[in-house]
Amino acid sequence: MSFDAIDVIVTKRDGGELSRAQIDWVIDAYTRGVVAEEQMSSLAMAILLNGMTRREIGEWTEAMIASGERMDWSALDRQTADKHSTGGVGDKITLPLTPLVAACGVAVPQLSGRGLGHTGGTLDKLESIPGWRAALSNREMFGVLDSVGAVICAAGSGLAPADRRLYALRDVTGTVESIPLIASSIMSKKIAEGTGSLVLDVKVGSGAFMKTIGRARELAETMVAIGVDHGVRTVALLTAMDRPLGRAVGNALEVTEAVEVLAGGGPRDVVELTVRLAREMLELAGTDGKDPADALADGSAMDVWRRMIGAQGGDPDAPLPRAAESMTLTVPGSGVVTKLDALAVGVAAWRLGAGRARKEDPVSFGAGITLHVTVGDVVRKGQPLMTLHTDETARFDRALRTLEGACEVGPSSSPDQLPLVIDRITAG
Ligand code: URA
Repeated sequence: MSFDAIDVIVTKRDGGELSRAQIDWVIDAYTRGVVAEEQMSSLAMAILLNGMTRREIGEWTEAMIASGERMDWSALDRQTADKHSTGGVGDKITLPLTPLVAACGVAVPQLSGRGLGHTGGTLDKLESIPGWRAALSNREMFGVLDSVGAVICAAGSGLAPADRRLYALRDVTGTVESIPLIASSIMSKKIAEGTGSLVLDVKVGSGAFMKTIGRARELAETMVAIGVDHGVRTVALLTAMDRPLGRAVGNALEVTEAVEVLAGGGPRDVVELTVRLAREMLELAGTDGKDPADALADGSAMDVWRRMIGAQGGDPDAPLPRAAESMTLTVPGSGVVTKLDALAVGVAAWRLGAGRARKEDPVSFGAGITLHVTVGDVVRKGQPLMTLHTDETARFDRALRTLEGACEVGPSSSPDQLPLVIDRITAG
């Protein structure tokens, strides 16, 4: 059936519900270039302003899945599970988590992305490892998953191409922050990727997409409902992103921290969240094998990491790139750190060269920030707060301006600090 794009736009503009036929048509016609960018942009804005029902969101997701291929891991001899994070500052959890879950007996097919803006991308982090290759064919991906049990690679252009186009359009038309559009965008890719179970890590706070617990909960509930409606066992955790996760922000710096976790060390919050997410993935996949904390302690997760990196051409023993210049800032007062703003740290790391402003920009692998203290620490004025790393000294000034007021010290801990895991959302 064919429709007029304007009728579809007007239906949503006037607060109506789109029919299944309208949704299927508009997504397919947009993917084929029949619906123009300005028409889709107008429809996206109408959706942002007027929302969508659960039925519409589910059908929109299905239409985006149908725009491309669907991967199938049924030939594997293991269950599959995946994790998706809505993105945050210092969020390197995918790096230790993927080999960790594989070491506990569940295969992890991780299709990841690159960073844009202040949140980093998993592929940029891994590309700081000399020789590591993000682009794999579907056959290569299956081969690594089958032999190693874990693979992290770039999503091919055949996976949900409608979303690829629509996301780029939303990025430049002020229509990213719509819960129906975010939920259907993320879930169309995860369902097309073919995982049997999915744990969503929905970040909350200044460094996250969702600044409030209420918005994060709504997004999490919407995504869990889509997953469960489409046969993927799905749960979501709401987790803190008011401060950075761990002590390292920036590509190679975060790989180093991930390897520390795999070696049985690393910052407490990164270890806690990695183990919690791993347990959730294993429970959803229905396995009761090794406990993730044991797989970190006995080196089996590290073994999988080394094989996973090697299978994609990377040398797990190669020294990682380091930035040419560094500058250490000091703590502004004595007492307890009550604030270390995630957004400010993320934007500063980005300005130091760790992130990109446009899709085609390169990133500096060594650039970023190492935190020497975190929220809740007892500190003395003048002790090291954080070290900034960059390849170009000219970048320090803008990073420093971003960091003004990012750290606050008070007489006692702040009651406003979010717990690391705020809530767990299951299908209601
Ligand atoms: N990540 C996605 O993949 N899609 C969105 O819409 C937002 C974040």
